[in-house]
Amino acid sequence: MKRAKPVFDDYYAGVFQERWPALRAALEKPPAPAAFSCGLLSPYCLDAASLAAARALGETGGSRVLDMCAAPGGKTLVLASTLGPGGRITANERSAHRRRRLLAVLDAHLPPELRCRVGVTGRDAARWGLYEQNAYDSVLLDAPCSSERHLILNPKHLASWSPARIRHLAQQAYAMLLAALAAAAPGGRVLYSVCALCAEEGDGVILRARERLPEGFAVLETGCDIPSEKTLFGRKVLPDRAGGAGPMYFALLEKRGGKG
Ligand SMILES: C[S@@+](CC[C@H](N)C(=O)[O-])C[C@H]1O[C@@H](n2cnc3c(N)ncnc32)[C@H](O)[C@@H]1O
Repeated sequence: MKRAKPVFDDYYAGVFQERWPALRAALEKPPAPAAFSCGLLSPYCLDAASLAAARALGETGGSRVLDMCAAPGGKTLVLASTLGPGGRITANERSAHRRRRLLAVLDAHLPPELRCRVGVTGRDAARWGLYEQNAYDSVLLDAPCSSERHLILNPKHLASWSPARIRHLAQQAYAMLLAALAAAAPGGRVLYSVCALCAEEGDGVILRARERLPEGFAVLETGCDIPSEKTLFGRKVLPDRAGGAGPMYFALLEKRGGKG
């Protein structure tokens, strides 16, 4: 019987080929977080790739924003920092424990005039269409994912890893992306992101949504202010080529149908 670590390594070596040893070594190093302080009471440290992904949604201004999987809240803070008059964020997190952490982060970092415009909910993101449809100008779906950077440092999780985990997470992210598109208003934007390495959880999820909703959305170009690699639908930031930032995949979609 194969030992668990080689199963994980064999799989990713098959995906990344000769790049895998350098990428694995970069994943094992401590991340290089960026201190984000724009409009906050005190700086919040998050991965530079997370900051780049949240910024890709654009300035939030006076818009209605939904952050579907928000805890611990780093990207919510980035979105809140550009909220203008009339703007409002719904920051959602299903886990009660992580929701408490999200509330603590929002309370500690947001000035009162921004904090009062960020509401926190505890719904299942995949079922959002049952609660609200066509309701938001901007939706961030930072989906639960393989998160190999954390996995690689946890021998217990690494030992129980199998490719089925990727398939399960990709299926869950796909259901959430359909819900995010339902929640967005026509003309609204959806930023899909995952801190995963494999295309199955990145472009693969967008591809499946496009097959399901061929006229449902357009894929928009998105910039990135740190080194990134273009993919079929979005961008990925991988730590071996981005000074330790990432992994992060993100793609920006616009729901079809025009504003109104
Ligand atoms: C990648 S993390 C989000 C990180 C966060 N956006 C940030 O930048 O700080 C994904 C989050 O989704 C939450 N989650 C998992 N399943 C969910 C579901 N069905 N509905 C809502 N949230 C969920 C997890 O508890 C986790 O906190």
